[in-house]
Amino acid sequence: MPLRLDYSNMMISPGGIDAKSWTDAARRFPAAYSGFEDLRKAGTVSFAELPGDKQLLEQSIRFAEGARGKYDDVVILGIGGSALGPVALRTALRPSGWNMLDDKSRDGFPRLHVLDNVDPETIAALLERLQLHRSLFIVTSKSGGTAETMAQFLIVHDRIVSAKLDVRKQMVFVTDPKQGALRPLAERLGVAALDIPPSVGGRFSVLTPVGTLPAALIGIDVTALVAGAGAMARKCASPELAKNPAGVYAMLQWLADTELKKSIAVFMPYSDPLRDFAAWFVQLWAESLGKKRPDGTSVGSTPIAALGATDQHAQVQLFMEGPADKTVTFVAVGQRSTDVKIPAGFADVKELGYLTGHSLGELIDIEQRATAGALARRGRPNMTIQLERVDAAHVGELMMFLEIATAYAGQLYGIDAFNQPGVELGKQFAYALLGRPGADAAKKEWDSLPRSDPRWII
Ligand code: PA5
Repeated sequence: MPLRLDYSNMMISPGGIDAKSWTDAARRFPAAYSGFEDLRKAGTVSFAELPGDKQLLEQSIRFAEGARGKYDDVVILGIGGSALGPVALRTALRPSGWNMLDDKSRDGFPRLHVLDNVDPETIAALLERLQLHRSLFIVTSKSGGTAETMAQFLIVHDRIVSAKLDVRKQMVFVTDPKQGALRPLAERLGVAALDIPPSVGGRFSVLTPVGTLPAALIGIDVTALVAGAGAMARKCASPELAKNPAGVYAMLQWLADTELKKSIAVFMPYSDPLRDFAAWFVQLWAESLGKKRPDGTSVGSTPIAALGATDQHAQVQLFMEGPADKTVTFVAVGQRSTDVKIPAGFADVKELGYLTGHSLGELIDIEQRATAGALARRGRPNMTIQLERVDAAHVGELMMFLEIATAYAGQLYGIDAFNQPGVELGKQFAYALLGRPGADAAKKEWDSLPRSDPRWII
């Protein structure tokens, strides 16, 4: 069954979206729809076309078939959009605690580590643990020049060469087919390189080899993943708001932010397998929509990741009684891969006895419904994405749903959802401090900044 979005609790009164705003929204949506369609037709943005690109998917499948049995560990060197998608896929679609399982329980597929930072503690510890000759390093960078990833590459390359191993057997690159330093480096070293299409940016790239290569290597059904995404892309082929689920989601979030002043978008799956999916969504929404419009005004709602039921004991108090500046998107799961009955016992203890006869699956589902209902009762708008189960097809569907919604939201805000100019200055300052050639202007600007003032240091 395709995913369903129940947004009844967004339309509550008081606190929710009123009927007139929703009628106006339906009139406004076709422009947002065609804005995104124009980008697709021009070939400027093509993440929604990925499900039709069989050749690209084949690159990952073929490589993974050739690698079967050769590696115990796969390590991604990448950051941001090059890292969050693969982590989300591993946590969602492989058994719990994948990297801690033995070979038999992993069906001979390797562990998957994602080095998405340059903290020496983590990298040193992992490299210490790995058997290099049984490890495959995937160097993933769309631009082929990200400082963190390039530093990791240099370290790992040096270790491989020092161990007198063949770089061609221990490394593979995932990068733009033409641009950046990784592509010529692949040729120079004879390392295989898989493609990220030029018109697919980092945070929209999970269905390219950025996500499908590591996923295929650890035994995830990438064909089903991409097919699920394709089904959602087809469902979103209408300029009529009521027929376009991603359009509805984008419109609800945009109205909540701009009209109801709810500028925080909480994303809260009630599912441990979707724990890292929430982090993937946070990057997608934040980096795409937090922008300056051409008139200089700043826009974008702030995404927050939460996990049910865990965060009922951490963040939900804030969602319920703190500032009324949030929407909550719950993700509920219909069928879980397993369930655990709560056994009978201590019937005379009131805090325990009522649990008997229920299961943990029931408990977590009921807690989600109860929290959604309680928020609505307090005038706090929320909605629930209902996933039949967490499998490859449904995860692909959910990813495409949120990606298309992000693209529409970009149109509604009147910004470019596919760039990230705001991170540039920090990068330039870092280049200047590291002495990268060509960073003279940034160095000058850095030197002109006020320094820390001893009066304000304690
Ligand atoms: O979404 C994005 O474009 C970014 O988060 C990038 O993924 C991130 O900066 C890493 O860039 P690259 O893949 O070019 O190394």
